[in-house]
Amino acid sequence: DIDKKVKELLSKMTLEEKVGQMTQISIEVLLKTENGKAIEPHELDLDKLATCIKKYKVGSILNIGGDAQTVANWQGVIQAIQKMALEENIKIPVLYGIDAIHGNNYTANSVLFPQQIAQAASFNREMVKKAAEITAYETRASFTPWTFSPVLDLGRQPVWPRLWETFGEDPYVTAELGKAMVKGFQGDNLVTDKYHVAACLKHYMGYSMPLSGHDRTPAWIPERELREYFLPQFAEAVKAGAKTVMVNSGEINGTPVHANKHILTDILKDELQFKGFAVSDWQDIQYLYQRHRVAKDNKEAVMIAINAGIDMSMVPTDYTFCDALLELAKEGKVPMSRIDDAVSRILRVKYEVDLFNNPTGNAADYLQFNSAEHTKVNYNVAAECVALLKNNNNILPLTTGKKILVTGPAATSMRALNGGWSRNWQGLNSDETEKDHNNILEAVQKTFGQQYVTYSEGASFTAVTNIQETVAKAAQSDVIVLCIGETSYTETPGNIDDLSISKSQAELAKALAATGKPIVFVLTEGRPRVISEIESLSSAVVHAFLLGNEGGNVIADVLAGKINPSGKLPYTYPRHVNSLHNYYHKDTETLKFDEWGGYNPQWEFGHGLSYTTFKYTNLKLSNTLLADNDKITVSVDVTNTGKVVGKETVLLFVSDKVASITPEAKRLRAFDKVEIQPGQTRTVSFEIDKNRLSFINYDLKRVTEPGDFDLQIGDQKASFTVTEASSRNN
Ligand code: IFM
Repeated sequence: DIDKKVKELLSKMTLEEKVGQMTQISIEVLLKTENGKAIEPHELDLDKLATCIKKYKVGSILNIGGDAQTVANWQGVIQAIQKMALEENIKIPVLYGIDAIHGNNYTANSVLFPQQIAQAASFNREMVKKAAEITAYETRASFTPWTFSPVLDLGRQPVWPRLWETFGEDPYVTAELGKAMVKGFQGDNLVTDKYHVAACLKHYMGYSMPLSGHDRTPAWIPERELREYFLPQFAEAVKAGAKTVMVNSGEINGTPVHANKHILTDILKDELQFKGFAVSDWQDIQYLYQRHRVAKDNKEAVMIAINAGIDMSMVPTDYTFCDALLELAKEGKVPMSRIDDAVSRILRVKYEVDLFNNPTGNAADYLQFNSAEHTKVNYNVAAECVALLKNNNNILPLTTGKKILVTGPAATSMRALNGGWSRNWQGLNSDETEKDHNNILEAVQKTFGQQYVTYSEGASFTAVTNIQETVAKAAQSDVIVLCIGETSYTETPGNIDDLSISKSQAELAKALAATGKPIVFVLTEGRPRVISEIESLSSAVVHAFLLGNEGGNVIADVLAGKINPSGKLPYTYPRHVNSLHNYYHKDTETLKFDEWGGYNPQWEFGHGLSYTTFKYTNLKLSNTLLADNDKITVSVDVTNTGKVVGKETVLLFVSDKVASITPEAKRLRAFDKVEIQPGQTRTVSFEIDKNRLSFINYDLKRVTEPGDFDLQIGDQKASFTVTEASSRNN
């Protein structure tokens, strides 16, 4: 039915209208400004809007043009845009898109959830889905039906400034949580529902592994690796129905992905059968000539990108794309069939989000925006994201009545809790905009009682401040809560030259340690900053990642024992800045020559303690020979042997003993999370079939080779054999 509508509409469109649909413009270009800045609250400049909609027939707009707006103001902006679009002959509403990546973070007062890397630590598919559902609702409340989320890039390179936007280093976790997020955003049937949004899978593909670690610098990833580690999560999310993808801004193996027909058309559209559309990233078609130099000018860049398979250009600040594409189409350098294909894909998504019947929305339908219920879900999600990495002598939870010194630059910083894409791009203003939420200090004061808590900054992220006064206060306290990590950032502004925690914070930790008082580190950071220099000075380490607006409350409740932490590391926490390995490294990475080298991370992928203890017993395999079309049911008993209720993520690792491509030390092939009462035993089961054990071979085929495999859950181990017949090529 939608295909028919798309065909009919397409047949009525002029070339100009088609080119307009393929164009996305930033709202910045359309706002009234004063001294070069958008006036607040935002107002559309109707002349500029007419150039966009009437002259260039633009089909998509993005962004917010500065800081967050109120929902009501934003609804007005969208209504005015749609009104003008619908006055045109062809009457196609504009598809508005924003980066609602951890909540509708461009609208004032919306709920800000933990960032993706924190959600990954929860290993909880349902929680991730629920957070996405609420994000979708609150995004739709500002009349926006499209979010540029989730990020399915693999967080394997910790120097890279966007690691926190990922689900961590494992492709299976990324695929599972990515699918959950897509389902949460899109619901079951977008067409009939006004509470969900179209998702956008980013950044297709291989964006997260620049060799230098710096954003948008060259990556060298052979196609075998691309298919083994970087593609599967996109494939799964496409299968789950994701409507759009955004393209990797960088280059792989010397070719910018925006110019790579093999990746964009052969793999994405032909092989994965992706029916939605691919949007470029910001200005990335122009960058084909301005930065990458694979095109001599804008026109050639447009030709290369559209012929490679980009459907919509996030231009986004001028109309040079439209002019160039019109010329190219008239000259036959971009075939009409390619343009029709791109426009059909875009129109299909417009129908799929029911834009034609519901171009804006009705404010009265969104009364749950920023409701107490949404905030409660946010707290519950954040509660599952905290990973307790160390707890010597069970110093945590802190007993009541202790004198606590709260210190460190993250203690009073909502900005550090929220990270980037929070009300604005770099998340700069959280301290002012999030005044209604408790930072760590405020929450600790509330939870433990003002009279037990003192505060002293000690250091900023970049310089020591009142260090002596802080040490004096520490000497008067029973325990020190040292809140360190990073401030907010994203993309290239987040580039760093050293993965170590900053010098000022290390200096503060050392000065505090000299008092002999126990120190609890709270790490508020979007990537694992190396702390080996000061780690031994801590008695406990709470990894809080970027927890969002409920982060202060959740951290205080973890310290007090009201929350039993259940997060696990979604990445390997490195000990040394020059020894960056993933848990699925190859055996040669772990070889140790005398005292040099080896694999010795600070904490391993999947590490995370609890206030209770879990014992694994009784690992059973239904059979130990795995033939074609067969499966093995694996079960294990997990007992809560401590005194408090807890949640445990059960991770099933498999390692292939011999393979034609050097096998990894182990791979995560299944996981589940269960809540267990003290003294209770729960049996957790998984099914393993040959597909779960497959890998990409030298000929780029997915195969499962016969042979022996080791399996491990907790400390329980078993082996099984894949029989000869299981080898397959497809
Ligand atoms: O969605 C983002 C992308 O992740 C980075 N560049 C800008 C886009 C739109 O804001």
